[in-house]
Amino acid sequence: MLVIAIDGPAGSGKSTVARALAERLDLEYLDTGAMYRAITFAALRHGVDPADVEPVAALARQVDMDIGEVVMVDGVDASIEIRGPAVTQAVSLVANNPEVRTEMVSRQREWVHKRGGGVLEGRDIGTVVFPDAQLKVYLTASPEVRARRRAKEVTDLDYETVAADLVRRDTYDSQRENDPLRQADDATSLDTSNLSVEEIVDQLVAMLDQ
Ligand code: DC
Repeated sequence: MLVIAIDGPAGSGKSTVARALAERLDLEYLDTGAMYRAITFAALRHGVDPADVEPVAALARQVDMDIGEVVMVDGVDASIEIRGPAVTQAVSLVANNPEVRTEMVSRQREWVHKRGGGVLEGRDIGTVVFPDAQLKVYLTASPEVRARRRAKEVTDLDYETVAADLVRRDTYDSQRENDPLRQADDATSLDTSNLSVEEIVDQLVAMLDQ
């Protein structure tokens, strides 16, 4: 079973790289950040306060989600809204909920076992979800490059707002109590600031072949 773990902060290129690498290796790809966003979307939709630990955890256990190019949450297409400002603002709180994390980690492992492998991207894949993955990569990029990439994705917000939100979220994600963002000791770190997607994928494939 080939499992590839790609972690790193927002805007480090994880999604683009994970998708391209999965395609190159003919594996499926899972965006685990979209799962935390899906729970946040469900909470907001049901009027549950994202900071309210127990109700959000209960919601996480029963919500039905399908994560792909289209993200379905309890039968509703949430693809656009999970990237919007309301979800982006609240998602860090949901991601620090330990019971939500337990449920998501278990769903992620199940996803991989069903497919016999895959490429997963997130914050805790190499440290918690699949510490034994064959390839563990920690992507980084300069703050300016990361903010520029994110600003391109979210067209309705200006660069300054995106940059400030990125710093806020990174700080919170790295300092939170539960499974904070950190590089696994045995993960290979790669700065993507000045590399094309093609170059990054080539490097990762070469690491796998070693
Ligand atoms: O990668 P993203 O911006 O879509 O992630 C959304 C949030 O979810 C982000 O604040 C970090 C959190 N997250 C996490 O805690 N663990 C993961 N495996 C993936 C994302």
